Amino acid sequence: MSEPNGHHGAAPLNWAARVRGRRAKLFGEPDHEARRITRNVSMKESVRKSALITGATGQDGAYLAELLLAKGYNVHGVKRRSSSFNTARIEHLYRHPHEKDARYFLHYGDMTDSTNLIRIVQQTQPDEIYNLAAQSHVQVSFETAEYTANADGIGTLRLLEAIRLLGLQRKTKFYQASTSELYGNVAETPQSETTRFQPRSPYAAAKLYAYWITVNYREAYGMHASNGILFNHESPLRGETFVTRKITRAAAAIHLGFQDRLYLGNLEASRDWGHARDYVEGMWLMLQQPNPDDYVLATGKTFTVRQFVELVFGELGVPLAWRGKGVSEKGYDKRSGRVLVEVDPRYFRPTEVDLLMGDASKAKAQLGWMPKTQLKQLVEEMLSEDLAEMRRFNSAMRNVGFQAAE
Ligand code: NAP
Ligand code: GDD
Repeated sequence: MSEPNGHHGAAPLNWAARVRGRRAKLFGEPDHEARRITRNVSMKESVRKSALITGATGQDGAYLAELLLAKGYNVHGVKRRSSSFNTARIEHLYRHPHEKDARYFLHYGDMTDSTNLIRIVQQTQPDEIYNLAAQSHVQVSFETAEYTANADGIGTLRLLEAIRLLGLQRKTKFYQASTSELYGNVAETPQSETTRFQPRSPYAAAKLYAYWITVNYREAYGMHASNGILFNHESPLRGETFVTRKITRAAAAIHLGFQDRLYLGNLEASRDWGHARDYVEGMWLMLQQPNPDDYVLATGKTFTVRQFVELVFGELGVPLAWRGKGVSEKGYDKRSGRVLVEVDPRYFRPTEVDLLMGDASKAKAQLGWMPKTQLKQLVEEMLSEDLAEMRRFNSAMRNVGFQAAE
């Protein structure tokens, strides 16, 4: 078992307290409430469920661990060895294993290493496995196609096989992080569980294998294995290179004078964007059902990248106007005429998914799941976190003699 960032002993107190406070805010709870989640134990140790999360250090891994700890689970997270810290999103949840209220444990692991996955499953004997680990960036998958197939596709097989080899197929329920990218060149709109898959990237092709191998293990071995076909979900914890976070961070930086302009790829792509906090609840609900199945989670609304940019700058009181066509198109501040957004073809994908819009009526009917967060609220939350983070950075830099215009 390992500790976040390889600390031996407690994490530095000020930092831990700061992170806890900040994350507590992100998760919509007061600080003392976040502490309570991991300290006051309502479930007896003997009946406590345990869950294993791969991809524990990612956006969804952080929200899911928070949810499961609040529900009284013991949580085991798989994290990759990295030469730099990769646990920022989960520091606030972690307690040193020697603390008696520790319920969140981290294990080094990788989806490309079967022996390691078998050992972790064997040691943890989880009631539920949430397979969230993946090389999850679509554009990067065109550059690292073989690795993406290995980690996202075969990695899922390795985990399913670990459950089977260890004879845990009756005990351990399995969640596979499937994706709306499977619909690719969409056969119909909106997309539901019955819409044909037509993947358009190495990432989606790898996830297609993972989807079907999950279905196959369910049918062949009677495993409680479910696919969540999740449409895009974002948050202040979203990776910085996904388009929503790239936009909120750039808008915050431009607003504070740290950055001149924002470069984007395809402004016409349309996505169904929800909040990650809502979606991890749907994952958990899938594994609480008597029978395994596959479910779409989505908001049912779609917006273009262009609309998302307008919404974000609108929040900052900056009305945008667009001029030019194709790669020459630019977004201006309507009042000052200053260029704020430009198109950079480097961000175009060899094959694009033009429009995603999900129909989550099955999840609503069978799981009682519905998204709670509207896009405007999501944008406000992301932007305000990015502004706050950059202001903190600005004041830190001021202390060492650098000052950015506010
Ligand atoms: P994310 O933030 O990119 O997190 C991915 C996680 O997987 C990280 O913890 C990462 O570790 C880990 N990982 C990557 N390669 C690995 C490997 N070879 N072995 C072990 N761990 C590995 O992704 P997310 O947004 O939380 O998404 C979670 C899952 O849902 C992914 O499978 C994604 O494909 C899928 N999904 C996401 C969305 C969405 O809109 N967010 C929608 C549908 C499906 P590091 O932190 O070390 O990089
Ligand atoms: N990343 C990025 N950067 N995307 C851009 C940019 C840019 O500068 N400019 C335009 N886009 C467009 C992309 O071409 C794409 O059509 C859209 O914005 C969304 O891109 P991402 O935010 O990178 O997400 P994604 O839709 O490709 O994939 C995400 O959602 C999937 C579910 O549909 C990822 O989270 C996947 O892991 C997930 O499966």
